[in-house]
Amino acid sequence: LIQEKVETLLSQMTLLEKIGQMNQYNGFWNVTGPNPTEGDAAKKYKHLKSGQVGSMLNVRGVAEVKRVQKIAVEETRLGIPLIIGFDVIHGYKTISPIPLAEAASWDMDAIKKSAEVAASEAGASGINWTFAPMVDISRDARWGRVMEGAGEDAYLGSKIAYARVKGFQGEDLSANNTIAACAKHFAGYGFAESGKDYNTVDIGMATLQNIVFPPFKAAIKADVKTFMNSFNELNGIPATGNAFLQRKILKEEWGFDGFIVSDWGSINEMISHGYAKNKKQASKIAANAGSDMDMESYAYINHLERLVNDGKVDVTIIDDAVKRILTVKYELGLFDDPYLYCDEKREKEVIGSKKNQATVLDMAKKSIVLLKNEKQLLPLQKKGLNIAVIGDLANDKNSPLGSWRIAGEDNTAISVLEGLKSFKGNKITYEKGVTLAKGKTDFTLETNINKKNTSGIKEAVALASKNDIVIMVLGENGFQSGEGRSRASLDLPGLQQELLEAVYKVNKNVVLVLMNGRPLTINWANDNVPVILETWHLGTQSGNAIAEVLYGDYNPSGKLPMTFPKSVGQIPIYYNFKSTGRPKIPAPNMVFWSHYIDESNEPLYEFGYGLSYTSFKYEDLKLSESAFAKGEEIKVSFTLTNTGKYEGKEVVQLYIQDKFASRTRPIKELKGFKMVSLKPGESKEVTFSINEEMLQFYSANEKWEAEEGEFNVFLGGSSKTVLESNFKLVD
Ligand code: IFM
Repeated sequence: LIQEKVETLLSQMTLLEKIGQMNQYNGFWNVTGPNPTEGDAAKKYKHLKSGQVGSMLNVRGVAEVKRVQKIAVEETRLGIPLIIGFDVIHGYKTISPIPLAEAASWDMDAIKKSAEVAASEAGASGINWTFAPMVDISRDARWGRVMEGAGEDAYLGSKIAYARVKGFQGEDLSANNTIAACAKHFAGYGFAESGKDYNTVDIGMATLQNIVFPPFKAAIKADVKTFMNSFNELNGIPATGNAFLQRKILKEEWGFDGFIVSDWGSINEMISHGYAKNKKQASKIAANAGSDMDMESYAYINHLERLVNDGKVDVTIIDDAVKRILTVKYELGLFDDPYLYCDEKREKEVIGSKKNQATVLDMAKKSIVLLKNEKQLLPLQKKGLNIAVIGDLANDKNSPLGSWRIAGEDNTAISVLEGLKSFKGNKITYEKGVTLAKGKTDFTLETNINKKNTSGIKEAVALASKNDIVIMVLGENGFQSGEGRSRASLDLPGLQQELLEAVYKVNKNVVLVLMNGRPLTINWANDNVPVILETWHLGTQSGNAIAEVLYGDYNPSGKLPMTFPKSVGQIPIYYNFKSTGRPKIPAPNMVFWSHYIDESNEPLYEFGYGLSYTSFKYEDLKLSESAFAKGEEIKVSFTLTNTGKYEGKEVVQLYIQDKFASRTRPIKELKGFKMVSLKPGESKEVTFSINEEMLQFYSANEKWEAEEGEFNVFLGGSSKTVLESNFKLVD
């Protein structure tokens, strides 16, 4: 039915109106104020009134959205509603943990619920489309946008991509609490050379197929409505102008029937890439390659009509793009009611509701990863302790909100200090120590100033020496990760390392609470400090979540979705590497193997790692069969026992290695995981099925298939697994 409506509407549209649907503008004037009369804004306003704008981004709030929607619906010839897009990356106003943190929960239900909260608040604010989830796999913590993804692994990333799309889009896209999702950035953006944002990507087909593509495929399985292409070039061809990616793979092979939006200005950027001579050529390349909507390049609106009339872009390409865009607008319910998402009463009720706060608090607790807990310092006793809290981030209500939370209001997070003080039994005293950069963009300047300003260290040391325990909250400010925030060093920024060492000298009972948007190199802390808790940037409820975990009201169960390197020189570092022809050779003084002479090959913390206040034992691995044929399956089971004193949850992980294949395979790959809850002393048998699909990869035949042969299967609480067996896939 929708298709018929789309066809009918299309048949009434002029070429310029069609191209208008492919044009997206950033909010370009103070929408609720007077209409613009001069300059670029006036020109865009004219376009909006004449039906030459199909979408706007960064217009938000019912009043603003209503205003622009009214122009589109009531003042244009065909009254086609706009689709309003916004980066709802981890929450709208009620901010949930950064996506990398959520990934550490390995809890698909919680992740889906967090996306539901984001969708309901954004939907209540007039927005119908989020530019999320970002599903780019990355093995490089220098890249600032790792905070926005699900980490390094294609399998975990795929599960999360699926959960997030389902969370945003719900069961009924035309409901006012669901919004269209956007799988981005297609493709390869996370493989930017040297971790530098926007940099060149040059990767082979096997990596593209086996590592980069799976989460995008999972998003399609979840019926994602849109894709965004990418700033980067991929093997010499910018993603925005890449017909192989957009037409051949996405639209033809995978049958994606939604639309693709360009990234911001990425059509024009093909000129800087050295791929298109001018905007006109860039428009031609992008449209022909399958980019359906132009975000802020003003390329399509200025050049496509001419290109079609000159026969450089076929009108069927325009029609195809417009049909895709109109279909999503119909599916969102915008044709039935363009103001469906514009209800002031709902806006007031939904945004920041108690229910939403509770959901993001739950998500935040689940995202925390306990990296080290010696001397039984955690959980903290609730009475009688003198606790020093040290670190600029401890008293920071902004940084926990993290990067990419445009609608989230500054300084609205619960700080760690506030969270700790809400538990009344202990005496808490605070010192900042050293000042951390607060800027969104100017880190160099502030870091240099910090380098000179050591004055606060003395006060912090004095306080630490008088207390039983020191909680040090150190890491990155909320904008030291995110787009354009690549780092060459992954050490604690500024003078925080000096502060940590000075405090540790006078008080060894240090609980290091890390707050950061990416893996950091914290070797000294790992070697010395007894407790390290990874809390990322946890959003609005950050301080409450951290305090509950520190006091043991919540037993942490998070596991790292990304490897923590020992040094930047190890990057790219990831658990599912290949063996090489020269794996470890244990002979003394042997240098001719794949290693560093000045650093170990081992990471600081491996993928999948994370502790609990209790401990778990893995034993009794059993396989139902030692071989199976395609179409069949076998079961692998083992016994998990809680051997500690606390009730706890463990994310048990299943890895498989294809020992010999037509293309070399990684030493192990995640193929399954389960969350198991156990009381102290309790045991449970845990079972996974292994089937042919789990053994598939992009083979030398250039297709996804499982090859017969020998496989190893591993189980454990991290990628450093503890149980092992093997099986065969037979004819
Ligand atoms: O969605 C983002 C994208 O990830 C990076 N460039 C800008 C877009 C819209 O804000």
